[in-house]
Amino acid sequence: MDNLRLGRTSNLRKAFEHTEFSFFEADINDYETNLRRLRDFHARRPIDMVWHLAANSDIRAGALDPQVDFEHTFLTTFTVLRLMRALGLRRLAFSSSSAIYGMRPGLLDEDTGPCFPVSNYGAMKLASEGAVSAGLETHLERAWILRFPNVVGSRGTHGVIFDLLQKLRADPSVLEVLGDGRQEKPYLHVSELVDAMLFVVDRACERLNCYNIGTDGTASIVSWIAQTVIRAAAPGATIRYTGGAQGWPGDVPRFQYSIERLRRLGWAPALTSDQAIERAVAELLAERCEQG
Ligand SMILES: NC(=O)c1ccc[n+]([C@@H]2O[C@H](COP(=O)([O-])OP(=O)(O)OC[C@H]3O[C@@H](n4cnc5c(N)ncnc54)[C@H](O)[C@@H]3O)[C@@H](O)[C@H]2O)c1
Repeated sequence: MDNLRLGRTSNLRKAFEHTEFSFFEADINDYETNLRRLRDFHARRPIDMVWHLAANSDIRAGALDPQVDFEHTFLTTFTVLRLMRALGLRRLAFSSSSAIYGMRPGLLDEDTGPCFPVSNYGAMKLASEGAVSAGLETHLERAWILRFPNVVGSRGTHGVIFDLLQKLRADPSVLEVLGDGRQEKPYLHVSELVDAMLFVVDRACERLNCYNIGTDGTASIVSWIAQTVIRAAAPGATIRYTGGAQGWPGDVPRFQYSIERLRRLGWAPALTSDQAIERAVAELLAERCEQG
């Protein structure tokens, strides 16, 4: 289900080739319509579990208008939980975010707290985590809260590489970079993220399973990302930094993420953060060439 607010059906081309795949264009918050539709679907093809990934992934939009994250990041989770309760669905995997931790120094592990997010997006993800854990007291049997870092790669529709490529397309001579370029964060390739998500849901069998998914301690510096994008897309372009430690209000300019719990479960990424960036730049450029 997707309301295509930010998603694109062209990204599902391969999925549509599977006879078992169904797609509903729907706003998750449209509770009554979704309940009718899903009840009918569930009667024909029982739903075993729910993967809830819908959100406002445009964190900057949430800083300009907090209602966006309330509706698309929190209310979607709340409505998914209501729908699950009404339909008797008991297993939920939820995509949370490193943004819940806010500006905390040190290595962030799943027990780090208290969490004080600095973006409305992070606040609505943290509230969503709370709603999921409360759901375990009433109608859920098992839940997986998966906290993603920055994710990059094929078919991206937003994020740092996507933004930088857009800017270079508009003006190949100058690249504007938000902040001072010294922001340093872990970037995970989307293929590894999906692999880790499936791994955790397959192996972690507590009632509430909360996992950071991330790189193996590596991170990438924004100025290096900008140079890498320039090398690949517009050699010779100069960089203009907008200045300031944060890229935008709510940006967490640097953090270190522990994936020790994930590693103990048996999963570790193969790519470093820089390798994930390099691969994602090549993929997004190739996709742009295909699209013309
Ligand atoms: N990409 C990242 O770096 C990153 C990092 C941390 C967490 N996450 C989380 O991972 C999940 C997937 O992110 P993504 O990067 O693929 O973003 P995305 O924007 O590609 O995917 C989110 C999808 O949710 C849909 N959506 C939003 N509101 C909806 C609504 N009310 N009803 C139905 N559909 C709705 C959008 O149209 C979009 O297709 C999100 O929950 C995001 O918050 C992503």
